[in-house]
Amino acid sequence: MYTGKFPAVCAALLALVLALPVSAVAQATSTKAGVGDAEINAALQAAHAKYKNLAEGKNADYIPALAKVDPNIYGIALVTTDGKVYTTGDIKSEVSIQSISKVFTMAKVMEEQGADAIEKTIGVDPTGMRFNSIVAVEFAQKALGGPEINPLVNPGAITATSMVAGATRDEVWKNLLSFYSDFAGRPLTVNQEVFKSESDTNQRNQAIGYLMYAYEFIKSDPARATDVYTEQCSVNVNAKDLATMAATLANGGKNPVTGKQIMKAENVPGVLSVMAIAGLYDDSGKWLYHTGLPAKSGVGGGLIAVSPGRFGIAVISPPLDDAGNSVRAQRAIADISNALGGNPYAAKADQSGKSRAE
Ligand code: DON
Repeated sequence: MYTGKFPAVCAALLALVLALPVSAVAQATSTKAGVGDAEINAALQAAHAKYKNLAEGKNADYIPALAKVDPNIYGIALVTTDGKVYTTGDIKSEVSIQSISKVFTMAKVMEEQGADAIEKTIGVDPTGMRFNSIVAVEFAQKALGGPEINPLVNPGAITATSMVAGATRDEVWKNLLSFYSDFAGRPLTVNQEVFKSESDTNQRNQAIGYLMYAYEFIKSDPARATDVYTEQCSVNVNAKDLATMAATLANGGKNPVTGKQIMKAENVPGVLSVMAIAGLYDDSGKWLYHTGLPAKSGVGGGLIAVSPGRFGIAVISPPLDDAGNSVRAQRAIADISNALGGNPYAAKADQSGKSRAE
């Protein structure tokens, strides 16, 4: 029965909502990221504005085509595990995926050969050295006596590429590119200028390929493995592609935008673990200390990070620091994740009031 009190109750509720801080109101539209749309958009925009004029770092130039990329490209995207997409800045420009591809080739090998294949053939330990270190291979071989590196440094990555199934080079390539495209949720293509530029200048990677063959990590043609690896590094991506790829890892291997299961959920923790220990090379420890996020950088300027169960995030900005990681991307992702409580290690104390002492 209508009592006449309904308008008064509504007014009281409205007053309560208006009195809440913005963040609490945003919880009402909470996503699986654990925060609302307004907070996510505000965090993205704040990080974009804060680092837009940062002039540190410089484009990679050991691959000549990368030196020519516009250093002002700066795009940010975050995709939640329920498929919501948030973007700011330049999200149209594409850069070559570079080392971020290594994550997805590692995943492909685990899908095809089982979770043990990477650990037994390559290793899952940090080298603490640069991404194209030959000393790291020698040290693992001579001092540690075996597969003690990981698939995110060049020697391990070229080995992982050599393990992808396919009777011909073309078959291997199609297999890899369609896997990457499934993660991004659209057909990806190769930046031919970058592919040619790196192919003309990758003598060090060719030497690494032959060294891995000499030590019998690579069991097929090492020149072909290095060539396919170089092509995989040349795949073009924008910030939204990368964030969707990261969100697929955050979501147990199911692309949250397309709904397609791309890899087995049981293989995801292994991939994220190696990203955590080696995703930013010799700066991986510092990165993990400040963010707690498994992440992966590429010398094209991309950086992805994963908050498991919540979101994937990506930033593209070509200028790099000395370790080969995008300067703006590291700062922006750290700020955004910390603003959204993305650090998986940052558990809050139980507030139920119960304790063992009671
Ligand atoms: O093999 C190389 O040197 C490049 N194609 C990839 C290196 C890379 O992205 C390292 N990342 N930060």
